[in-house]
Amino acid sequence: MMKMVTILVLLIALLSMIAPLPLDALNVRGHLLKSKTFLSPAFFLHPGSVSNKFYYDVPFPRGHLALKSFNAEVVDENGIPVPLHETYLHHWVVEPYYALKNSDSIDAQKLPKRITARNSGVCTKTLGQYYGLGSETRHTATWVPDPYGIEIGNPEKPPEGYEEKWFINVHAIDTRGAIDKLGCTECKCDLYNMTIDEYARKLPKDYIGGLYCCYDQTQCKVREGFNGELRKLFLRYTVTWLEWSDAVVPVKIYIFDVSDISPPDEKSGTACKVEYQVEECSPENRAKNECIDVKVTKEVLPRGGDIVFGVAHQHSGGLGASLHGQDGRLLCASLPTYGSGEEAGNEENYIVGMSTCYPKPGSIKVTDGEVLTIVSNYSSDHQHTGVMGLFYILVAEQEQPALCFSFPVPWCLPSWLTSNL
Ligand SMILES: *[C@@H]1O[C@H](CO)[C@@H](O)[C@H](O)[C@H]1NC(C)=O
Ligand SMILES: *[C@@H]1O[C@H](CO)[C@@H](O)[C@H](O)[C@H]1NC(C)=O
Repeated sequence: MMKMVTILVLLIALLSMIAPLPLDALNVRGHLLKSKTFLSPAFFLHPGSVSNKFYYDVPFPRGHLALKSFNAEVVDENGIPVPLHETYLHHWVVEPYYALKNSDSIDAQKLPKRITARNSGVCTKTLGQYYGLGSETRHTATWVPDPYGIEIGNPEKPPEGYEEKWFINVHAIDTRGAIDKLGCTECKCDLYNMTIDEYARKLPKDYIGGLYCCYDQTQCKVREGFNGELRKLFLRYTVTWLEWSDAVVPVKIYIFDVSDISPPDEKSGTACKVEYQVEECSPENRAKNECIDVKVTKEVLPRGGDIVFGVAHQHSGGLGASLHGQDGRLLCASLPTYGSGEEAGNEENYIVGMSTCYPKPGSIKVTDGEVLTIVSNYSSDHQHTGVMGLFYILVAEQEQPALCFSFPVPWCLPSWLTSNL
């Protein structure tokens, strides 16, 4: 059996010619890659207003697929990209969930209509998304390198009676005519005239800015007499994918939140606060030119493997973030790019892109239960409210990709065969 398989493989390798090494032949891109652009439902903004909407059952590729990228931006009715200094994209997230199929039937009355289908961790109450970015959307790579892919639409995953669907949350702030654009984007409570939150709970005295003050339908202060028309806007998003196959090596999505300051042995996953505050630096530090806020936390990675992609998410004032292994080795550093002009994608003072890590496959390994360190740096020249320090990584657990060939069409040996080699 072994011998036959070996001969068969050699023969195939010879025939395919382009593939002297199986790994080189492992090309899951090529003509199989599919791509489609969708529009979210419309949202409406006037100067100073906020929209934070959750759209369920949004258009998304269907079937058992490997996601390869997800890119998005805010556009107006005519499809023209809107710059961040007019519509600030605070964040968008996209996440699958399981929807009850026949919710009208009597049997279904007691069942939940939706069940969450979160990423692999590590926060349990928040940050369950598969993708999520903000102002940096236009210049941040989301490409999952070959031969990896994010598995979606596996018909075996949803519980009985449920099907996979997708929701998108878009949080946008219109800052046309705002008296303090940065303050509005940082959700400073005084600019929103806010002393209670969305649920009429009194905000703590020391809470001076963040999501509790810029929820859906709130209003930031604009210059008196400023006039701007009501705008109809969309999140336009482009998804790239492949059909799922043995050629694709699945990756798990982990999101780490630097605001989760509980010690590693007390992690519950519920302490991810998502946002934090950067205090203005002391006069002593300013004199020494050391106005940097460094926030550090540790998180336990449940399952190890190869890191194949990494990126951080930060807000204006961010100076970069990094992820380290238990022995201190650098796993990934992600640095912001600030715009320098007016046009969409290059807005001055806004983070318009975050750099990404694409380690050589197999070169950055993490182990089961490894304690990782997340570092997020911000400028503390000024105080910043509602900032974020997230780190996304994709981890491939499966070490041995299937043996695949690209000739005459992309195809693979079944894994039961290759595991015998
Ligand atoms: C601010 O809120 C208070 C009540 O919370 C209200 O009386 C006042 O009119 C508001 N001011 C503005 C400018 O909206
Ligand atoms: C964060 O700041 C510290 C202290 O200045 C520095 O040593 C580190 O390299 C910075 N990290 C990143 C990712 O910029």
